[in-house]
Formats: sequence, structure tokens, C-alpha cells
Amino acid sequence: MSLSVETVQTTPYEGQKPGTSGLRKKVKVFTQPNYTENFVQCTLDANGAALAGSTLIVGGDGRYYCKEAAELIVRIAAANGVAKLLVGQNGILSTPAVSSLIRHNKALGGIVLTASHNPGGPENDFGIKFNCENGGPAPDAFTNNIHQLTTGIKSYKLVRGLQIDISKVGVSSFDIGGKPFVVEVIDSVADYVRLMQEIFDFAKLRDFVSGKSTGKPLKMRIDSMNGVTGAYVREIFLNRLGAAEVSVVHTTPLPDFGGLHPDPNLTYAKDLVETVAKGDYDIGAAFDGDGDRNMIIGSKAFFVTPSDSLAVIAHYLDAIPYFQKNGVQGFARSMPTASAVDLVGKKLGKEVFEVPTGWKYFGNLMDAGRLCLCGEESFGTGSNHIREKDGIWAVLAWISVMQHTGKSIEDILKQHWSIYGRNYFTRYDYEECDLEPCNEMMATMEKTITAAGFVGKSFASGGKSYTVKQADNFSYTDPVDKSVATKQGLRIVFEDGSRIVMRLSGTGSSGATVRLYIDSYEKDNVLGQASVMLKPLIDIALEISQLPKFTGRNAPTVIT
Ligand code: G6P
Ligand code: ZN
Repeated sequence: MSLSVETVQTTPYEGQKPGTSGLRKKVKVFTQPNYTENFVQCTLDANGAALAGSTLIVGGDGRYYCKEAAELIVRIAAANGVAKLLVGQNGILSTPAVSSLIRHNKALGGIVLTASHNPGGPENDFGIKFNCENGGPAPDAFTNNIHQLTTGIKSYKLVRGLQIDISKVGVSSFDIGGKPFVVEVIDSVADYVRLMQEIFDFAKLRDFVSGKSTGKPLKMRIDSMNGVTGAYVREIFLNRLGAAEVSVVHTTPLPDFGGLHPDPNLTYAKDLVETVAKGDYDIGAAFDGDGDRNMIIGSKAFFVTPSDSLAVIAHYLDAIPYFQKNGVQGFARSMPTASAVDLVGKKLGKEVFEVPTGWKYFGNLMDAGRLCLCGEESFGTGSNHIREKDGIWAVLAWISVMQHTGKSIEDILKQHWSIYGRNYFTRYDYEECDLEPCNEMMATMEKTITAAGFVGKSFASGGKSYTVKQADNFSYTDPVDKSVATKQGLRIVFEDGSRIVMRLSGTGSSGATVRLYIDSYEKDNVLGQASVMLKPLIDIALEISQLPKFTGRNAPTVIT
């Protein structure tokens, strides 16, 4: 039977502008008539002539509205000349898994249905993100084009009669107006598990995790926070690496994440932190809703900052078979991320890049063979095995480092700091502020820090004094395609390398979230308490930005 394509009239919605990582809005916004349809049509159109006859990957983190959106995408893609879709069973695919599938299947791209770490459920967030053929988030030029198209959309195409059951693995073929169209519902985890087995030495890790090589099993608590990683974690840690069932928790993906805020940090992964603090564990880890973020803690909940995590993995990269085989190219971090990895890069003689916030900025460098490991303070760590950050990969990397050194996480860090010094780091988030005063605050601060005489000025607090060496609104020129990203965050760099960074989040779905990042380097005083060490610089940042005055907030909502 041949199914026919219908053209449906529509009108544009305002604000369909992808942010740091795709379009994120409340579910209620996405479920307005034609809202999702418009955005999907424009996302497909942004591919131009390449779309006809292409293969696309579709899947998401299992949050509320994922399944409906996936089914809708099948009907719209079919109508737009796409030849084949690979859809995760029940619409489930982690973000790293999508990236891997795009690359492995040489697909044109993938549509990722996620709002990442934002809460899910009918009252909360949904998101749609397009990843390109390298497996990475679409670059700015592409997402700007999507946005441009959404402002003028008049109609979208749909094969209304196309019904497919995405709860069952299998292949369905259709005839759409004389052209073949195939939907393959795939096992959500198989391809990703294959990839991890290629990267890490699973036999060695299994002996380590199960205790065969050490005499005692590794005590882990891996918390999937009811997000998408549950199925992946069970297969990898339980089935392949032989960990005990109690090592994994919250492994059933739930549409509302069971009410959890699936963001792996000290505030939202509270249950993990408290359990590991009280119990007898060697490692604790958590992931976000779509599985690209990670948090690592050691015994007694010893916290590893994402910036340190990146630096430690960089130091031990050659303990991982993938890097033994493919070599170690450069490293990179986002601008607000503490510069611990820079020191490792310097020691190893590697290029180190500083890019704007957003994983998409790493892609070109990886494709050009200049970058193999990167990370962000926002709990993202990953490598050039895919073009997304990868939470489970990060945990496997850490377990590999533990196996390789035979040391505890705390001792690994202490040894690292004794070699390189320590970058104390914290981030203060002020969530759901009013947008207007925040924009005003940023504009005022930009004026202040770029005014003549600001460089060279000294600020003192709590017995410490800092002299400004450089201050600007960060802009970045991509070394590969020379594209320029401006206004990526205000930064003040002091003579001793300490930094204050302030920017507005690009991943929220409403209002404004102010992020204040504090990075302070100490060569010798490496065993202090971060909150104490950073207090003087925080006070200086609040004074320069006048944040309390503009936002009406006296304290952040989240500290990471
Ligand atoms: C997502 C992106 C990251 C980014 C993070 C925070 O996870 O993939 O690249 O660092 O969001 O972005 P934001 O704009 O909210 O600070
Ligand atoms: Zn995420």
C-alpha cells in the first residue's frame, strides 16, 4: 500500500531558537498545535538537498513526550524524503548513543529528544536537538538557519496514516508516494556497549570490578537518577563487568525521572552523595537525564570537580587502550572550566584549546585530528570516540585509572595536585531570575570591566589581593573553520591566573540563570577547603557585578 504525503498549513511560533544545546521549552509549549511539527520541519529543511534519501537517528532520554515526539518525527521524516530512520526502542537512546549511531551508520544526522538535566514530566521541560553527520550538536550556523526557517514557516509535510509500533525491535518498510521508506526500531544499548568494549579493556576491568585481580570487589554506587542511562549501566556494569546488583540504583528511565532533578551535581545528586558519605564505597557516580553528564565522587563522598576529573584523565590517558591505539592529540575545555587540564597539556607537550560553553565547539577540532579529550565544568567529559560528552565513558575512564594506579580516588587527586598544583573551583547558579535585570547586570558589568583603567586595578578581600591582568567578553575564533562566536561570557583574569567568569545560561527554558564561576590556582596550598579558599574571590565577584542589587538574590540556588 502506498501512503500519501499531506501538506498542512501552519503559522510561525516565536522563540524557536535553539540555545546552548537545542530547543528547550516546557512540555506545554511543545504540545501547542503544530509547535513540534514546525520545529521538526525546519530542522529537516535546514539540511537542504542532503535530506532526500538520507538516514537519520531518532531517540531520546525517555522523558515525558519523548515517545509521541518520536512517532511524530517518523511521520514528518517520511513525508520529507528521508529514506531510513533508526529509532531507539520506545524512543530511548542516550545522547552519547545517538552520537555513536550517527557515526557508525554514516547517517546524515540525528534528532535527540531531550532537555538533558532539566526536570521532566507534563509540567516540566522537553527539548529537541539536531546532531550532524559527525555525530555532534549542530553548529551555530546550522541552528541559526533552523531558527530563521521557523520565523517564516507556512506549511509542513506529514504522512498521517503512518503507524509504527516503536516498542518492538524490528524493521518496517513503507511506500511513500512511490518511494521506499524504512523504519528500523533498534535495541537502545547494543551499539553503545560495542563501542565501550572497543575503547576499554573490559577483561581487565571485569577482574578489577569483580575483585578477581585485587581480592576484593570494587564497591561502586552508580546512580542513573531515573534517566536514560539505566539500561546502559545494567548491561555494562552488571552484565559485562560483573558488578553486584546493589552497585546500581535508579536504573528505570521514568517520564518524570521519579520527581528527581536528573543533574549529577552535589545539590541534585544528594542521595548519592549522602549514601556514599555514610557507606563503604570506593567510587560513586551519577549521570544526567540523557546520559552525557557525569559526576565522580570517591570514598566518603570525596568530590572530584569536573575540571580536575578532566585533568586526571588527561594525565592517565595512555592507560586506556583506545588512546594507546589512536594516540593522544590535543586537549580542550570550555572557557569557564578551571584550567587544570592546561597544566597537563603543557607538561605532555599537547595543544590545549579554550572554547565557549557548549559541546558543539569541540567538534571541528576533533574532526581535524587536533583534539582527543575535552571537558566542561558543567559535568561533561568526553573524547573523540563520539562528538558528545559521555557520562558512562567517564566512569569507565575513572575505573581504568583506579585499576591502573591501584590508588583511591582521593589519593589520585592528591598526587595530581602535588605534581601540578590545584585549581580550586566553584560555580554559583542563580536560577529563574528575571531576564531584564540580568541583561542589565551583564551590560553594566561589561562596561565596568572593559573601561580604561580596569586592567591593573587591585581588589582585596579576606586578606587576599588580586590584580586584574585581563578582562573582556570572551570571543572565540574556531581554528578550523574560522567562524567567530562573540559575547560568550564576561571574564576577569588576575595576575596569578585566578579568574572570575560570569555568563547567562543558554540551557534554561524560562527566565534567566546567572552563572558565576570562580577559579583560583594554588601551587602549594593544595589541601585547603574549596569554599574557604574561594570566599575572597567570590566576594570580589559579587562586588564588581553588583549581583545582589540586580537580581535581588543574596544566595545562589545551586552551588557546584
Ligand atoms: C549542556 C551543554 C554543555 C554546556 C552545559 C551548560 O550540557 O551540552 O556544553 O556546558 O549545557 O550550558 P549553560 O549554557 O546552561 O551554562
Ligand atoms: Zn545532558
